Amino acid sequence: MDAKQKEGRYNRIAVQLEELLKKDGDTISKMATIVAVLHPKMPHFFWTGFYRLVENDLIAGPYQGSVACQVLDPEKGVCRACVDRNESIIVSDVEAFSGHIPCDSRSKSEIVIPVHDREGNVVAVLDVDSDRLNAFDEIDRDGLEKIIALSAL
Ligand code: SME
Repeated sequence: MDAKQKEGRYNRIAVQLEELLKKDGDTISKMATIVAVLHPKMPHFFWTGFYRLVENDLIAGPYQGSVACQVLDPEKGVCRACVDRNESIIVSDVEAFSGHIPCDSRSKSEIVIPVHDREGNVVAVLDVDSDRLNAFDEIDRDGLEKIIALSAL
């Protein structure tokens, strides 16, 4: 999939999700819907899911892909760095990210997007892993940030 195709696909997914998420609904149900739409449509997505921040622990929420770590070590990891920095992080090679938490050794690259509540606090992250190196770029970041912004989770 080239850059234009990828951009087009994110735009179509956003239109579909906007329709699905427009009703005020349950947070977990909305997360599950986002994952269910995204995961099968993006060939470079090996694992797609949310980690929710619960009393400062990052706990696995809705996801698709292989079985994940249920609770992440609070002192390290890409998801934790995303929460601490309050910004999206693209990791082109997980082995080069000091403190990366491997839940499946087949994951080679990763992107993590912060999720905010209506007051702007980080309440979760959307985490996507690929089994390919360097699978994510600015198009993925923009596309996923727009999808997360569609609905207050
Ligand atoms: N790699 C993540 C942990 C979650 S898994 O990728 C599903 C991290 O370093 O925080």
